[in-house]
Amino acid sequence: EDSGKCPFRGTRVGGAAGTHPQVDDWWPNRLQVELLHQDQPAANPISDENYSEAFNQIDFQQLKEDIKALLVDSKEWWPADYNNYGPQMVRMAWHAAGTYRIADGRGGAGQALQRFAPINSWWDNGNTDKSRRLLWPIKKKYGAALSWADLMVLTGNCSLEIMGFPTYGFGGGRRDAWEPDRSTYWGPEFWDGKPFEESKVGEYKDGHPDKMVTQTLRWEGEPSDENRDLENPLGATHQALIYVNPEGPGGNGEPMDSARAIRESFKRMAMDDEETVALIAGGHAFGKSHGKVTADKIGPAPEAAPIQAMGMGWQNPEGTGFAQYTMTNGIEGAWTPDPTKWDNNYLINLFKFEWKKIESPVGAIQWTPVDLSAPKTPDAHLNGTMNDLMMMTSDIALKVDPAYNKICEKFLNDFDYFTEAFSKAWYKLTHRDMGPRDRYLGPEVPKEDLLWQDPVPVCKHELVNDNDIVDLKKQILSSDLSVSALVSAAWSSAAVYRHSDKRGGANGARIALDPQKNWVMNRPSELKSVLKMLKTIQSDFNANQSGDKEVSLADLVVLGGCAAIEKAAKDAGTDIQVPFTPGRTDATQELTDIESFNYLKPVSDGFKNYHNDKVDFRVPSERIFLDRAQLLSLNAPEWTVLVGGLRVLEQNYDYSKHGVFTDRPGQLSNDFFQVLTSMDFEWVPQNENEMLFNINDRKSGATKYTATRCDLIFGSNAQLRNIAEVYGANDGQERFVKDFVAAWNKVMMLDRYDVKKE
Ligand code: HEM
Repeated sequence: EDSGKCPFRGTRVGGAAGTHPQVDDWWPNRLQVELLHQDQPAANPISDENYSEAFNQIDFQQLKEDIKALLVDSKEWWPADYNNYGPQMVRMAWHAAGTYRIADGRGGAGQALQRFAPINSWWDNGNTDKSRRLLWPIKKKYGAALSWADLMVLTGNCSLEIMGFPTYGFGGGRRDAWEPDRSTYWGPEFWDGKPFEESKVGEYKDGHPDKMVTQTLRWEGEPSDENRDLENPLGATHQALIYVNPEGPGGNGEPMDSARAIRESFKRMAMDDEETVALIAGGHAFGKSHGKVTADKIGPAPEAAPIQAMGMGWQNPEGTGFAQYTMTNGIEGAWTPDPTKWDNNYLINLFKFEWKKIESPVGAIQWTPVDLSAPKTPDAHLNGTMNDLMMMTSDIALKVDPAYNKICEKFLNDFDYFTEAFSKAWYKLTHRDMGPRDRYLGPEVPKEDLLWQDPVPVCKHELVNDNDIVDLKKQILSSDLSVSALVSAAWSSAAVYRHSDKRGGANGARIALDPQKNWVMNRPSELKSVLKMLKTIQSDFNANQSGDKEVSLADLVVLGGCAAIEKAAKDAGTDIQVPFTPGRTDATQELTDIESFNYLKPVSDGFKNYHNDKVDFRVPSERIFLDRAQLLSLNAPEWTVLVGGLRVLEQNYDYSKHGVFTDRPGQLSNDFFQVLTSMDFEWVPQNENEMLFNINDRKSGATKYTATRCDLIFGSNAQLRNIAEVYGANDGQERFVKDFVAAWNKVMMLDRYDVKKE
């Protein structure tokens, strides 16, 4: 029969491209190297766009007026509560930013990932699809000059402004993602709360890394447990939520338990108690919760919706399906008597009245004033109808937790102070993942430096020229510091960068400050002597200049690496010049938030074989290594070539010889790859943990080298091995040095948004 021959009918011949099962279904433990190649320019139809240039040409005031006009222009297909889309847009912007977690810097408003799965379909993001779709006319008008990410945050600001709230500022410059992010770990469970691969949890502890279970439980401990611990790096306490369950942990309706969850969760996104209270109390001055229809009647989330829904989800069959029938969360009601105006009534009523637990029309736990004389709030759609005020368990938490309670009292007594606190916290929330201020665009960027921006002084001095650079490199190399020490200082200073929130990097010379100068993987005592020598060279150089020419310590640290690599290449027989771009400046200890910088310290670091012999991780060390390579925005060849070079330049944090597959360490040779790809050796685990390995000569049986999983992975994983073969081949040495230097320079320049074009 003819139809059976069509390859896409899924009957006889099989499925279309991508039909499961696929590689990862068959081999779930394979290292997913391709995660380094997500969201490539090839996926982006406007990758040729210079976004900053385009954005800067927008008439910013006109753009804001356009947004503000749209916010009060209610559309029939989704009528605005109170004739004002402001509150729902504030929630959309907050949910965009609120996925940020400081542990790995992932999440946040930066790439508008709310447009893609899984975030677009999280239950907590219910009906944000409507908010974004409402904004299409603005996006359409400004096209490629205005990213969705910038538009969503700016709309949050415009919404607050039309409701009488003074915003602190806005910086544009967010570049959209063009495909779903497939790598961020959002938690161990499915959306119904059931653990993923429940049966396997704990297997790793029994000892075999190949069976290591990559999933665990989100929480250790019961909700009432003071020491309850949320798995790192997670910021949300439940799958598919932004932060916490409004009905308390697991929906238990206990405000004190909710307070504990809120504190942990907001801390994970770098907010202290005062910022947390300001954000929640500030945000819930606006809008309402929607709970008119039971969840089981609501259609599938956008990602699972029928094709004719055209990307929208949560179809509601009740009444019109919107306006007074809207169902988003299940809790019903507004917090204040005037939900489209900035005032202090949220806190006033929270504190003035006793609140008791009741059920929403669809059975969710919520709270209502005990006192019948408490003010009422107008219905969002039905003229003349007045409703009771509502609080969620997570709102009551602010009153019952002693520390939050104190802050609320302060905000209650000083509305201006509260307004300023919320204003600054909102600015931080929505800009936290943007990195250096050099990235911020537009006329509303505040002049002031804020500590969470990791400020680095603007470069005002004249820069060193080519002759100075040659001289300085000579001076550095004539000191008694080894290639390994110089490379380690430069690498450590630059490679702390993470592309997720664009924090860290060589600029600022924070390698010379607390906490980084003391991190064990930075080889602190050796680092101290490198810095001492560089500071001497620096002060001599600066003292001998007539004009305002200077060299910063940050530049010298990087230059030291350049000089050392040039020497190492030459010693291996290859002449090469390592690019160097001066212009870094030096930050101070006062401009450095130690607690916040400690989050940049890797728990395990394959580049330095740090912690790679430890068995206390729930995921194999090579997977943490891949995570780190991704945070550095490296592609697979860059990652591979860097590791090969760093190993022969002896970069292990403890000076161990793991992975140093060479008889001439300190020379930039391709020996690592030659050994890695050679069949003269046998790779034998040192014990059943399979964390450390002996590399034995097959003939003599003698142990020639030792290695970690983070070394072996480049010979074991098929994709990485093919790259290792390129560098290990007979024509590999020149290419290896050239590619190593290019990748090295990329890492040195990762944070240079002062000179990079985006
Ligand atoms: C609405 C929970 C923090 C701003 C809501 C809704 C829930 C909720 C369940 C109702 C959604 C709906 O049914 O439409 C929480 C929880 C928080 C929290 C549990 C943390 C403990 C915040 C923060 C902000 C914010 C920090 C902003 C700074 C809003 C706004 C609305 C809202 C403006 C009204 C949306 C509308 O009127 O459509 N929140 N929220 N919330 N939330 Fe929050």
